[in-house]
Formats: sequence, C-alpha cells, structure tokens
Amino acid sequence: MQKLLVTGGAGFIGSNFVHYALTNTDSSITVLDKLTYAGNLASLQGLPEDRFTFVQGDICDNGLVDTLVQETDVVVHYAAESHNDNSLHDPRPFLDTNIIGTYTLIEAARKHGKRFHHISTDEVYGDLELDDPERFTESTPYNPSSPYSSTKAGSDLLVRAWVRSFGLQATISNCSNNYGPYQHVEKFIPRQITNVIDGIRPKLYGAGENVRDWIHANDHSSAVLTIIEKGEIGQTYLIGADGEKNNKEVVELILKHMGQPADAYDQVIDRPGHDLRYAIDSSRLRTELGWEPKFSNFDQGIEATIAWYRENEAWWRPQKAETEAKYKVQGQ
Ligand code: NAD
Ligand code: DAU
Repeated sequence: MQKLLVTGGAGFIGSNFVHYALTNTDSSITVLDKLTYAGNLASLQGLPEDRFTFVQGDICDNGLVDTLVQETDVVVHYAAESHNDNSLHDPRPFLDTNIIGTYTLIEAARKHGKRFHHISTDEVYGDLELDDPERFTESTPYNPSSPYSSTKAGSDLLVRAWVRSFGLQATISNCSNNYGPYQHVEKFIPRQITNVIDGIRPKLYGAGENVRDWIHANDHSSAVLTIIEKGEIGQTYLIGADGEKNNKEVVELILKHMGQPADAYDQVIDRPGHDLRYAIDSSRLRTELGWEPKFSNFDQGIEATIAWYRENEAWWRPQKAETEAKYKVQGQ
C-alpha cells in the first residue's frame, strides 16, 4: 500500500483526487492544506478513517513539510492560489504559495528521495487565436499572461530544474479548465449556476468569445493517477478532453438547463489581459500511457453539476455573498 501526501486536498480538484484515489486504489492519503478561503473540509467527508488523515498547515512551512514528506512515498502537489481574478488584485499570495510553497516541497522531496507529481495548468502556455489550427502540446513555449499563470509557470520550471540538476523523481501535468461538484463559487461555471439559483443574471466578461477547453474533474483525477502509476520521470503530460466551448455557449447551456431565456445574462467589464483561447492536445497521455477521459458529454456534465449545486446549497452558501461583493467592487 502506497502512502500519498496530497497538498491542497481540501480544494476543488485536490478533494476530487482524494476521493478518486481512495476509491480506486488501496493507498492511504494524508492531506496537507492551509484551509484558505478556497479550502473546505466539507469536501472531504465520508472518507475511510483508517486510510485518511488531514493536517492543517502551510506548504511554505519547512519543518512541517519536511516531516510529512519524510513519512510519505509520493507527494501529489495540488495546493495553489488558483484564481486569475484574485491574482490581478492581490498577486502576493500567489508568489508565496505557488513559488515558495513549491520550492519548499521539492526541496523536501529531494532531501528524502521521494516521488513527486506536480499539478499545473495549460495557462502556462499563454493563449491561442480562435482560428489557430494548432493546440498546446508538451513542447509549446511558455508564455503566461497573468500573475497566477506566471507563478504556475515559475513553479513548473523549478520542478524541471530540480529534475535535471538534482535528479528529483518528478512528473508534471498541465490540465485544462475543470468543472464538476465542489468548485468554489468564484469560478465561472459555479458562479453562474448559483447566480441563477439566487435570481441574479449570469455575468459574462466582454463578448463571451473566449474559449476554454473543459474537462470533468474526475477525468483530471484519473489522468493524474495514471501518470503517478505509469508516467516517465522527468516528463510533462498535458491533460485535456477535447472540450472547447466559448463562454457565451456555456452560459447559454446553463440558462437552458435552468429554465431561463438564452439571453438572460449581463455582459460586464472584461478581465485585464484576458486569455482568448486554450486548447489541449493530450495525445502523449493517451498514446503513451493509455489514458482516456470518461465524461465526453458536456451537456450532461453541466446538467449534473447544476443538480449538485441545487442539492448542496449548504456547501456553497457561506462563500456566495462575500464572493459577489468582491466582484461588484470590480464592476464584474
Ligand atoms: P482551489 O483554489 O479550489 O484549491 C486550492 C487548495 O489549496 C485549497 O484547499 C487551499 O486551502 C489550498 N492552499 C492554498 N494555499 C495553500 C498553502 N500555502 N498551503 C497549503 N494549502 C494551501 O484550486 P483548484 O481549482 O482545486 O486547483 C488545484 C490545482 O490544480 C492548482 O495547482 C491549480 O493550479 C491546478 N489546476 C486547476 C485547474 C482548474 O480548472 N481549476 C486546471 C488545471 C490545473
Ligand atoms: O485553464 C486552467 C485554468 O482554468 C486553471 O489553471 C485555473 O486555476 C482555473 O481558475 C481556470 O482559469 P480561468 O481563468 O480560465 O477560469 P475562470 O473560471 O475564472 O474563468 C473561465 C472563463 O470565464 C474565463 O474566460 C473568464 C470567464 N468568466 C469568468 C467569471 C468568473 C466570465 O465570463 N464571467 C465570470 O463571472
């Protein structure tokens, strides 16, 4: 039985991975999470007590990280400041957690000779034109646009340097936009679903032409597990499920499933530096490691996600008013 240390396991994707890995393997998991505004212990309920431990703490805390990494077999590093809009208004926590936090973890993994998997994003590659026939691949040059994506790019480069210079036993994955249950209401899809539940019109940045490549969080988790089990040390794997949609299409789909007219949304101030389009070519992961996504029907995935937010208001309600108040100040 392998012992995994999952950082950021109380967040959206980290908690999905914890549930997924405990269901599909016999591993035991320790979660290290600071419980920032984005962490929620309610996302980790119902896990087997003999195989799951939660530690509240900061990935920048050397002593704590050293102890936990020493006790584990594999570090799976999800913890991050993850929201672009926040990074545009207060970048500092992004530098601390995404850069110094990653540095702290890889130093401990190097010292104790532990396997390390780094979770990253397609945003490190910048953006594509709407009509560009190419998609991002593992060899696309880095060109991040926001404080968030530049700190994620920095963290990826630290991991690559530690592999090359110190022989760190690491892999990296860069995934596209995730959706599904337990996502914070600051993010695009849950924000619009919970707005409609509250009788507020969805808010579209600019004309809504920006394209994101959507993947269900469960498919991200199965891909990460595949890379931990079969990935080649030192390699980067792009994770995506061919889910390109522009934001206007997504809002219209949410409105349709929630019984609202297709045009019942507001256009608001655009995000500064707003990336136009992300698109992932995940051929390496599929051909070399045999991974395939299971959630191919976005329409049904959105319907199920809407049902989850309707049924789990107690989970998201405490964050909703504060999140909308922040957006209001920004004119969004
Ligand atoms: P999230 O914001 O929902 O969760 C982040 C978690 O990290 C929270 O539980 C938070 O408490 C914890 N955390 C933050 N700072 C910490 C610190 N200093 N020490 C310990 N814990 C800390 O994020 P998410 O959307 O689940 O993203 C998780 C990871 O996946 C991130 O690395 C992100 O860059 C990456 N990613 C996200 C997406 C996406 O669509 N959301 C896509 C690709 C990659
Ligand atoms: O591509 C992967 C990235 O996806 C991850 O690395 C990030 O952690 C994650 O937050 C996400 O980044 P985005 O900036 O793409 O996600 P967000 O949910 O903030 O926005 C998705 C799109 O919707 C983007 O084009 C901005 C737009 N948007 C967002 C909000 C919150 C709106 O039009 N209206 C909104 O209210």
